[in-house]
Amino acid sequence: MPVKLKTQGLCKSFVRGDEELLVLEDINLAINEGEFVAFVGASGCGKTTLLRIIHGLIKPTHGEILVAGEAVQEPSPSRGFVLQEDSLLPWRSVLRNVTFGLEVQGRSTKEADLVAFELLKLVGLNNFENHYPLEISGGMRQRVNLARALAVDPDVLLMDEPFASLDAQTREVMQGELLRIWEQSRKTVLFVTHQIDEAVYLSDRVVVLSTRPGRVKQDVTIDFPRPRDLSIKRSAAFRDRVDVIWRLIEEEVVSTVERGDV
Ligand SMILES: Nc1ncnc2c1ncn2[C@@H]1O[C@H](COP(=O)(O)OP(=O)(O)OP(=O)(O)O)[C@@H](O)[C@H]1O
Ligand SMILES: [Mg+2]
Repeated sequence: MPVKLKTQGLCKSFVRGDEELLVLEDINLAINEGEFVAFVGASGCGKTTLLRIIHGLIKPTHGEILVAGEAVQEPSPSRGFVLQEDSLLPWRSVLRNVTFGLEVQGRSTKEADLVAFELLKLVGLNNFENHYPLEISGGMRQRVNLARALAVDPDVLLMDEPFASLDAQTREVMQGELLRIWEQSRKTVLFVTHQIDEAVYLSDRVVVLSTRPGRVKQDVTIDFPRPRDLSIKRSAAFRDRVDVIWRLIEEEVVSTVERGDV
């Protein structure tokens, strides 16, 4: 598969008063088309910042991001963003939330509705198009959120802890759903999570970031065959892989505590 997304010498620092806070340091990544890559690392290591830079919402201090060979300058519909908290518009129905991006693009209602109905079916919400966000559960809202991000047909999906607010069972269901959808659409996915088992279950690779400034500490290949059943989470090989990543993060957190940097 060709490389879809590349970051070269990416650094980011934020200036607050006289202080300069280095958040990301020399991030070099090459992510292939259709690859599912998770990012894990201690809180504050720069994961959200990295996704926001890749989306084009903020600029790096140094370095660049190339998507399909082109430098990212600003947000584009070709890169969809799914956040931890759903960002649905409460006054719009489920259907109208999903069609929102298409309306902004000037597509006709008929065309937008066709796309939205197809996606609502894909996320298992085909009977809920006339409900409003407050009338459905958190898990359902996250599905609508996903359908909305997919509606404009991005090639790259940036997901920042999208399931963090869900209970454990709903979260597992959503992980399975996401893999099913990804297997059908084969988007390139960058997925941030604090749950190591979620990262291992979903991904082709797990990128472990060091504590701030975030650097790539290790890039762990996850080669369990696909499609993956939820039962692989109970296997010894799966637990081993989770432990390896867990230890890498723990090393980081311990060294930060020892430095007195928390
Ligand atoms: N706009 C900003 N201005 C100043 N500092 C910022 C800004 N955005 C983020 N930071 C700082 O950058 C660091 C990294 O933040 P970021 O949100 O990327 O971390 P994270 O890895 O996503 O953390 P978490 O796991 O808690 O979501 C933090 O110390 C944060 O305070
Ligand atoms: Mg974050």
